[in-house]
Amino acid sequence: MTSAGRPRPTAHETGDAGVNGVGTERRSLLVRGGRRLVGEVILAGAKNSALKLMAASLLADEPSTIRRVPRIADVFTMIEMLRALGAEVTFDDGELRIDPSGQLNDCAPYELVRRMRASIIVMGPMVARLGRATIAMPGGCNIGPRRIDFHIRGLQKLGAAIEIEHGFIKVTCDGLRGAVVPLDYPSVGATENLLMAATAARGTTVIENAAREPEIVDLAKFLMSMGAHIEGAGSSSIAIEGGHALHGAIHEVIADRIEAGTYLLAGVVTGGDVSVSGLNPPCLELFLNKLRAMGVQVDEGDRTIRARALGPLQPVDVSTLPHPGFATDLQAQFMVALSLAEGTSIVTENVFENRFAVVDELNRLGAGITTSGHHAVVSGPRQLTGSVVEAPDLRGGAALAIAGLVAEGATEVRGLHHIDRGYEVFDVRLAALGADVERIEGRYAAGSAGR
Ligand code: EPZ
Repeated sequence: MTSAGRPRPTAHETGDAGVNGVGTERRSLLVRGGRRLVGEVILAGAKNSALKLMAASLLADEPSTIRRVPRIADVFTMIEMLRALGAEVTFDDGELRIDPSGQLNDCAPYELVRRMRASIIVMGPMVARLGRATIAMPGGCNIGPRRIDFHIRGLQKLGAAIEIEHGFIKVTCDGLRGAVVPLDYPSVGATENLLMAATAARGTTVIENAAREPEIVDLAKFLMSMGAHIEGAGSSSIAIEGGHALHGAIHEVIADRIEAGTYLLAGVVTGGDVSVSGLNPPCLELFLNKLRAMGVQVDEGDRTIRARALGPLQPVDVSTLPHPGFATDLQAQFMVALSLAEGTSIVTENVFENRFAVVDELNRLGAGITTSGHHAVVSGPRQLTGSVVEAPDLRGGAALAIAGLVAEGATEVRGLHHIDRGYEVFDVRLAALGADVERIEGRYAAGSAGR
């Protein structure tokens, strides 16, 4: 039993995918196409907020409680990270209690940073709390090199000294000082690391060209409830009056907008009728407008969204951009819907260098997508047929599962550990909407799943 008194997390919850993402066990999702998805998904807390809130709790020397935390592999990895740093953590029924009041360690271990590059988000809080940090370089992943130069230059602007050697970033400072920190690009992670570090910087810090994602606003709200003085979160200029001691707080994570878009698309491609609830709709406006342009009926209620494909889907062009632009985390899933549309669509990926890795796998299922640099040309309509495919990353895996929902026959999506990193019980949620899905652990489905 974990210290929380709950059964130990199962392998798929802890993302037992080894250090290099090569599963120490085989794990796949078997999807049989042809079912209409109908029903409602009560959204989990946002992965891309929860992980940062967990890191931010280190800024106080008192316990904090974070609610609506999804039971996903990345959360369990971050729990391991916080414990490695010396915090006490319990996790029960979506509620995390983090007590960082003991003496914290100043080194974030390689194997955890390698497993989840988002671990870099502990750098800001560690420097703020301890005045020093040693963090393994996160390295790249399937969607790009995932550089951290904006994080480093920003901390230097706040007075930190940084050395990179032997694959580690060593940060030291004798007191952070407020400064104007312009970002070359509205990086989500850099904005978050600098926002957290700035709470300990004497004087005022202004982050210019800051990211505007809803998860930034959620983090700022948590920090302010801890006693931080922050203005402008959600805009491209955030001002922080640092130097105030922070105390513990209680906070509920915002709903996961990417999970919302994923399930809405699963409904649309199957000609179904899916609603998501617990969301603040303004965070998906461009995505919803693109669905409407495809001929999808989208109804927005108070914290609910419903999407129905009332007829053949129409092609649309999509360019991913920082928020409030079209979210890059919905790009792969959206290409499945475009593959069914009656015409050709152009998808331009402006955020990551290599976020078309799933295209080859989608084409194995019968999609007709060609890529050139940052552009993908998606021809439709295509009749998808089931086969064995390999998830290249989290959102690519979700896209392959969505394709399997509409493909003729069975599709086996291998690399399910990628999906388990960011979606809470993905198979259970799809089955509850009427999908014919089966989680296969420890082996792959017999023979080719294409028949
Ligand atoms: C966050 O990644 C999310 N991850 C990503 O979600 C999301 O796709 C991304 O923001 C954009 O919205 C988490 O929140 C854990 P960035 P992050 O810094 O912070 C370049 C998912 O599927 N860059 O905004 O890493 C970088 O290479 C994940 O849930 C630099 O060049 O995103 C990339 O091309 C995937 N130097 C671009 O900016 C830097 O110092 C966007 O990166 C930092 C970033």
